Amino acid sequence: MTPRKIIIDTDPGQDDAVAILVALASPEEIDILGITCVAGNVPLDLTSRNARIVCELAGKRAVKIFAGCDRPLGRDLVTAEHVHGKTGLDGPDLPEPTMSLAEGHAVDFIIDTLRENAPGTVTLCPLGPLTNIATALQKAPDIADRIAKIVLMGGGYFEGGNITPTAEFNIYVDPQAADIVFKSGAPIVVMPLDVTHKALVTKARNDAFRAIGSPVGIAVAEMTDFFERFDKEKYGSDGAPLHDPCVTAYLINPDLFSGRHINVEIETQSELTMGMTVADWWGVTDRAPNATFMNDLDADGFFALLTERLARL
Ligand code: RIB
Ligand code: CA
Repeated sequence: MTPRKIIIDTDPGQDDAVAILVALASPEEIDILGITCVAGNVPLDLTSRNARIVCELAGKRAVKIFAGCDRPLGRDLVTAEHVHGKTGLDGPDLPEPTMSLAEGHAVDFIIDTLRENAPGTVTLCPLGPLTNIATALQKAPDIADRIAKIVLMGGGYFEGGNITPTAEFNIYVDPQAADIVFKSGAPIVVMPLDVTHKALVTKARNDAFRAIGSPVGIAVAEMTDFFERFDKEKYGSDGAPLHDPCVTAYLINPDLFSGRHINVEIETQSELTMGMTVADWWGVTDRAPNATFMNDLDADGFFALLTERLARL
């Protein structure tokens, strides 16, 4: 099986970290051409620091990591330290990174990589606000037809929002970018809150991460111990949703997930519903389907996959 070439676009964030670790542990299925960092959960200097910390934790210092956009296309940056802590990777006590960032801007890396690889061979995996992806599409419209697939975490319909009543954080931070991406014509798979809120890290599941016993397993358990307090208090759930690893798990075993190919448009005008993913789940409009919008997963299978892969590092 030829591994799928991907670029991970990310704003680590503990859940981004788990998504990156699982991808790094899966070279038979996933060939990470590079990691591009964007401002989101925390500012860019921290997301680009955290991505390096995660790769060093996994012993993968050869991964190319690029810094990208430090603010949304047309709005002030909104961050989420209240969820992820002031560093964005609170929980484990991990050393400062020693590896350097790759030369060049993340947006140019995305453009160059898509142009240098055959059309339809590179998958983009955004785990944060879509600023880098949209900027690349604006700067080089020709890349839209070269993207094999965009598999992103973002949005919500039945679950509503998590940063406002109607908007999920990644889309809310940069709704203009999301609008560009969802109108790009590239094939899109969406992992919205509707599915990620079913991927709850219960105590038993986090204990399984900790029982791996490796520095990676222990660090992931400590990340989750920190990260989950916000969602457990807010939703009264018995664990935090592991949002971003749904993207990586889909790349490895898409059969874990189910959803519908529907039209999804982004609210970019009303401040009341800014960043809402208007998902035509029931097909009540004549708007053309543009995204596969997931709403269910095999949660036990998902966590079994994550635990097995994390144990490989
Ligand atoms: O709303 C959840 C998403 O926002 C996740 O990607 C999390 O890391 C934050 O970026
Ligand atoms: Ca993220």
